Amino acid sequence: MIGEKNQSVEKNKSEIKDLVETAELLLTTRGDYQKMLDVIALRALKASGADRVCLIMKNERDELKIESGLPKDAHGIGQKITIDIGETFLRRIIKREESIVLVTNPYEDPRVAYMRGLVRTYGISSILFLPLFFEDEPIGILVFDRIGSERFSREALEKIKLLGRLASTAIGMELKRQKDRQKILTDEKLRTLGEHSSRIAHIIRNSLTIIGGFSGRLLKYLLKESRSGESKIDSRLLDTLWGTAKIIDGETKKLEGIVNHILTFMSFKKPVMEKHNINKFLKDELTLSPANGIKTRLKLDKQLDRLNMIFDRKMLSICLHDLIRNAIEASATRIIIKSKLKPRQKEVIISIINDGKRISPEIMKDLFSPFVTTKMDGNGLGLANVQSIVKSHGGDISVTSDVLTEFKIILPLHKTFGSKNNGESENSL
Ligand SMILES: Nc1ncnc2c1ncn2[C@@H]1O[C@H](COP(=O)(O)OP(=O)(O)OP(=O)(O)O)[C@@H](O)[C@H]1O
Ligand SMILES: [Mg+2]
Repeated sequence: MIGEKNQSVEKNKSEIKDLVETAELLLTTRGDYQKMLDVIALRALKASGADRVCLIMKNERDELKIESGLPKDAHGIGQKITIDIGETFLRRIIKREESIVLVTNPYEDPRVAYMRGLVRTYGISSILFLPLFFEDEPIGILVFDRIGSERFSREALEKIKLLGRLASTAIGMELKRQKDRQKILTDEKLRTLGEHSSRIAHIIRNSLTIIGGFSGRLLKYLLKESRSGESKIDSRLLDTLWGTAKIIDGETKKLEGIVNHILTFMSFKKPVMEKHNINKFLKDELTLSPANGIKTRLKLDKQLDRLNMIFDRKMLSICLHDLIRNAIEASATRIIIKSKLKPRQKEVIISIINDGKRISPEIMKDLFSPFVTTKMDGNGLGLANVQSIVKSHGGDISVTSDVLTEFKIILPLHKTFGSKNNGESENSL
C-alpha cells in the first residue's frame, strides 16, 4: 500500500518536473517564435508518447500552415493547409475550444481521408487533434499520431491537455509581444514621417499655389490673345501653348487636392472622447446616410445595448463612412456591420463586411499606408486615415479579404456605463 502511494507521489513529482522543465525551456525561446514551436513539438512528443507530432498554426492572414513537426523530415513544414489536405476538418476543430478530437480508426474515418497516404506509409493507428487557444481566439492545432497497436492512455491525454495550455499561453504571449513591438516601431516611424511630411506638404502647397496662380494667369492671357484677332502669336503656337498651360493647370489642381487631403489627415486632433452607445451610433449613422441603396444589415451584439463607451462620434463616423465608401467602390452588393462585445478582453469589435472585388494580395501588406490605391482617382488616404483614428482611440484595425472582405475595428472598453437603451439585437435596414 505504502509502496503504491510512494510510486504515485514519485510519478506526480516527475510529471511536475516535466512541466516545469517545459515552461523553463519555453521561457528561453522568448523572442524566437520558430524555436518556441520546435520546443513545443519536442515536448509534446515526449509528454504524449506519440510517434509523430505536428504543429499547425493560424497566421494573420487566417491561413493554416504546418509550422513545426517531429520527426523532422516527416512533415511538410511551411506547407499551407488547403482543402485537399483537410482544411475543412481542421478549421472545424480549431473552432472547438478545449476539446480534443481523437480518431481511432484513421484507415476508415472519412474525416481524415486526406491523410490516408500517410496513415498507410507510417502505419498510423490513431490521431489526436488538440486545438490551441489564447484569450478565446484559436491560434493553432497540435496533431499527435500513434503508430502500431498502442493507444493514447488516459494519463497521456491529461498530459497533452496540460501541455496544450502551456503551449497556447507561450505562443499567445509571444505573438502579442511581436505585435506590440511592431506597433511601437510603426508608431515611431509614422510619428517621424508625420512630422516631416506635414512640413514638406506645406512647402509643396505654397509652391503649388504659385504655379497654379501663374498657370491660371497664363490661361487667361492666352484666352484673351485667341479672342483678340490682333494677336502677334501665331495661332498654331497659341493652340500649343493653350494645351500645355491647360495640362500644367490641371495637374497642379490634382496635386493641390492631394496635398490638402494630406494636410487634413495630419491635422486630426486628439479625439473628443464622450459617452455614447455604440449600437445606437451604428444604427443612427446608417439611418442618416444609407449606403447608396446597397443592402446593408446591422448585426449588433445585444449586450452592447446596455453599455455605453467613450469615443469621438465625428471621428468614428468618418471611419465608418470611409469603409462603406470603399465597399461601394469595390462594387459590393451587400454590406454587413457587426458589433461584438469581448468582455474578457475589455474590447468591442466592429466589423464591416462586404462582398464584391477582393483586395488584391499585392497591396494587402501596405493597405493602411498612405497613398496605397488601386483606383484611378483614389488618393489612398482613406484607410490610413481610418487606422490613424482607430489608433488615436487606443484601438486597432485589421483586414481579411477572400470571398468577403472584412475590416475589424477593435476598440478598448476604457470605461463602461449602464445604458437605458434596450434596442433590438439584430436590425435589417
Ligand atoms: N472594402 C474593400 N473591398 C475591396 N477593396 C478595398 C476595400 N477597401 C479598400 N480596398 C482597396 O484598398 C485600397 C486603399 O483604400 P483607401 O481607402 O486607403 O484608398 P482609396 O479608396 O483608393 O482612395 P481614397 O479613400 O483616398 O479616396 C483601395 O484602392 C482598394 O483597392
Ligand atoms: Mg477609400
